[in-house]
Amino acid sequence: MAHPRSLSHTRPLSLSQFYFGVCYYPEHCRVDQWGNDATRMVAAGIDLARMAEFAWTLMEPIEGQYDFSLFDAAIAQLAEHGIDTMLCTPTATPPRWLTHRHPDMLREDSTGRMMSHGSRQHVSQMHKGFRSHSKRITRAMAQHFAGNPNVIGWQTDNEFNCHFSEDHSPPAQAQFIEWCRARFNNDIEALNTAWGASFWANTYGCFEELVTPRPEAPTHLNPAHVLDYHRFLSDAAVDFQREQVDILREVNPTWWITHNGTFDHIDFGGPFTEDLDFLSFDSYPMFKADPRERPAWDACRLDRTRGWSGNFLVAEQQSGAGGQTTYMHDSPAPGEVRPFALRAVARGADGLMHFRWRTCRFGAEQYWQGLIDHDDVGRRRYTEAVRLGQEFKRLGPALLGTHVQADVAIAGPDAAVQAAFEACHMGMPRPSWVAGDVHRVLFDRGIATGFVRPADDLSAVKLYVIPHWAAFDPAWVEPIREWVQAGGVLLIGAMSGTRDMNNNIVAATPPGVLSELAGVTVVDYTRVNEPQVRPMEIVIEGASKPVRGEHWCEQLEPLPGTEVLGHWKQQWFDGTAAITRRPVGQGAVIYAGAWLSPALCEALLPDLLNEAGVQPLVADLPPQVEAVQRVGDQGEILFLLNHGDVDVALASVPKGHDLLSDRPVGAGATLPALGVMALRLP
Ligand code: GAL
Repeated sequence: MAHPRSLSHTRPLSLSQFYFGVCYYPEHCRVDQWGNDATRMVAAGIDLARMAEFAWTLMEPIEGQYDFSLFDAAIAQLAEHGIDTMLCTPTATPPRWLTHRHPDMLREDSTGRMMSHGSRQHVSQMHKGFRSHSKRITRAMAQHFAGNPNVIGWQTDNEFNCHFSEDHSPPAQAQFIEWCRARFNNDIEALNTAWGASFWANTYGCFEELVTPRPEAPTHLNPAHVLDYHRFLSDAAVDFQREQVDILREVNPTWWITHNGTFDHIDFGGPFTEDLDFLSFDSYPMFKADPRERPAWDACRLDRTRGWSGNFLVAEQQSGAGGQTTYMHDSPAPGEVRPFALRAVARGADGLMHFRWRTCRFGAEQYWQGLIDHDDVGRRRYTEAVRLGQEFKRLGPALLGTHVQADVAIAGPDAAVQAAFEACHMGMPRPSWVAGDVHRVLFDRGIATGFVRPADDLSAVKLYVIPHWAAFDPAWVEPIREWVQAGGVLLIGAMSGTRDMNNNIVAATPPGVLSELAGVTVVDYTRVNEPQVRPMEIVIEGASKPVRGEHWCEQLEPLPGTEVLGHWKQQWFDGTAAITRRPVGQGAVIYAGAWLSPALCEALLPDLLNEAGVQPLVADLPPQVEAVQRVGDQGEILFLLNHGDVDVALASVPKGHDLLSDRPVGAGATLPALGVMALRLP
């Protein structure tokens, strides 16, 4: 296995093959079913099974007495059929004997409600006693499976923070104090200054007085306090995971290690992922109930995932309807599960595992459909997987080493920027939601799009959009300036650069550290709460009709050398600048003193795409067809996905070889309803 490159949206996975797998729960069925399972997996081209993430109590039924026999046997059964295993540390579901003996290990939410046994993720990872049990079970598993050649990799825990992301238990309180002490070098005055503690008696006399911030208890919290609490939560997840990773690496350095999930309050763009070989993502498109919105929504989530660290493994790919006790998805239509998987692969998955092999007949997910039904019959979902398995045999090897092309990039994701805004959002659409709107406009036009963090490699990006990043690290400005000077076109949304990385407003004139680069200052601003009653409109030069200013409007004053692209029409803003453009070197910076609403994006982005020289991946793309492209040393692979329920003719598709059907394709080719092509271009 190659040593992982540093995190970047262009980083491929460090595996030597493309895995097609399933999440397998041998503990949920009879042993005499395993043989038939393995035979059917092989028929579907499955070569990897993930196991044991919730099985602690089976492996250690009594404290200190281990029994790995069930998994030894299941791993061996699959291995006989050439299927390898990826194991998981089982810490998301500790055994009942542990919490019964140590109720102080339970996690607490912000209302003081203590979690309880019976579901999962109910124990505090900050509890020192639980930490030693986590290390103990990890070491016991690692040592037991170290010599098993069919165990090839690991997942840490399962979806950290998936159900809720905070912890206010006594161990969390204690650790927060220690975290703050370290962050501020044991200098309480430094904390008071950084947190603007003179407001509402936030001043602390010593670190022991600190508390975790509990939302609405009774009212608004200090945004600086909340941001540091979120940083603390992220660091705590890093520490917890690192203990497991260190043990796994020490016991068997040939194993690869990943974690599935990109949930709240963890910075996946830093040490959390650097400690792993790569990140994994659990892809559940059916959580978007409206089928018309689903493809764009799914594509956006996949692109965002790639933005953290590059290509990823899909550790769980939806393979049917999902149902937990209080809700259930519609069933995906026949033929819809396959494009879910192929979209994930097109947008950065270098390996994919279906969740789950068999639908379980009991427990909280008895309606969560796997490939095999309750009655042990594989029907249409299994048949689709068989087809995918055949296709991955050709497609998988061609994808290794490639990355997803991004002609346009949206700034994101960034844990601190997001947490900072969330802590003081004033009821406005969050930058991450706006990023989704920007993404949608680009998705609909078939533009190669990615999410890229400002410190990442922007060299191949032609247009970069920063959507309202209020908290902005000054260290990001210079590299962005250099990129613009070299020809990049930058669009900055209102309020960017107005807060420091403590989440306090900067003393400089907005947009703060971005003012000089954008060639503009903000001299007045207003929140727009009732646009119907109190409209604000922007007249964009050359546009046929004005665009409504929504949520937040800024009055701009261009600095010398900056031109005005649009001005306000109403109220005391009338006639003042709303959108500006400053040429910088070979490129330009456009500043929008308005929230980047879908309407404003539709009005602005086409011209900016032109200016940046960005073309859609395929000309004349029919509206229901999605385009995305992988690039690598061997050339390009162009994916085309038809979301519609009718076949479409692709008038101007380039000539290529479709790696899915193994046939040549050219202009005029038909893409069937729910069909996908993966064209290797000459
Ligand atoms: C994921 C989780 C799985 C399973 C699945 C379906 O979030 O990792 O264990 O719960 O969702 O709900």
